[in-house]
Amino acid sequence: MKFKIEALDPKSKARAGEITTDHGVIETPIFMPVGTMGTVKGVHQRELKEEINPDIILGNTYHLYLRPKTDVLEAAGGLHKFMNWDRPILTDSGGYQVYSLSGRRKIKEEGVKFKSHIDGSYHFFSPENVMEIQRKIGADIIMAFDECTPYPCDYNYAKRSMHMTHRWLNRCIDHLEKVPYRYDYAQTFFPIVQGSTYTDLRKQSAEYIANAGAEGNAIGGLSVGEPAEEMYAMTDVVCSILPEDKPRYLMGVGTPINILENIALGVDMFDCVMPTRNARNGMLFTSEGHINIKNKKWENDFSPVDPAGITWVDTEYSKAYLRHLFVSNEFLGKQIATIHNLGFYLWLVREARKHIIAGDFREWKDKMVKQMDNRL
Ligand code: GUN
Repeated sequence: MKFKIEALDPKSKARAGEITTDHGVIETPIFMPVGTMGTVKGVHQRELKEEINPDIILGNTYHLYLRPKTDVLEAAGGLHKFMNWDRPILTDSGGYQVYSLSGRRKIKEEGVKFKSHIDGSYHFFSPENVMEIQRKIGADIIMAFDECTPYPCDYNYAKRSMHMTHRWLNRCIDHLEKVPYRYDYAQTFFPIVQGSTYTDLRKQSAEYIANAGAEGNAIGGLSVGEPAEEMYAMTDVVCSILPEDKPRYLMGVGTPINILENIALGVDMFDCVMPTRNARNGMLFTSEGHINIKNKKWENDFSPVDPAGITWVDTEYSKAYLRHLFVSNEFLGKQIATIHNLGFYLWLVREARKHIIAGDFREWKDKMVKQMDNRL
């Protein structure tokens, strides 16, 4: 993997860059649509590629390990072939899913014992077996096995957990050296900074992760319920320590406003279930704020879903029609809303990139943040 910075915004820490992988180039800043189960829910790969056009999507080790199971993916020749997606993929390690399973898992130094959400069967994830699973899934970028701490988090717990995440990182790195690439392309490994909302821990963790010398670095443990200002403060501290010449990935973030503010702090990559999950609940993001399409106020509004939208669904369907689909629980409604929201998120990061290159990102970002902070 190669990373090249193309432009720096003069009035913020935003960067525009290019990551080159064996499955193609990723222009940054980038938003990675979440395809947990090897599908971006409700969107055909053809439409995803031709209409929404992301350079990379995300898959999930925890879910893919449970279904269809690692050996099926291996027999298929890896996730790219299995799902017919020939562009880059990143897989999360399961660290976050295990955190979400609170009550159904036990975290120890050795690893995590957890109960499947599907059939209640018991499984064990360790830094070593998660690296092996990710080799078999075959994503272009694979993530360290970490513990994502909750918010709020007791200082001593956050500190102990951060040190364990660091020890797990060493085990991931040692093990990866023993397990060669499974397919005929390279994989890049990203470690993850933790440390909850404590500045001293975040600094310590960012230094530890920077020292690991990986080709890219991630920031975890944020967007777990903390106020946005605390998230930005942590991102800022961490970005000031992580190497400038490596991509920085902020995991699980966030709203359109969170994305722009974190780009301004030096983040290059994002993923979040928000555009897809919220779409399925009828919440649409637009450049002028968000809409609940189920609201009665749209019943007779025959204007386009979003006149400024970039995908065909924005101009081919009216708000009234989309509302009707949601109120009638027709699944086409969820599909249209998903395409709209992902189209909007990808438009947003592409615009951000254009403005970074043009040198006026900061002004544009400030204007957009005000504009998007509305409920329509
Ligand atoms: N996704 C969102 N936050 C996190 C995190 O802290 N760790 C991992 N592995 N994935 C995440």
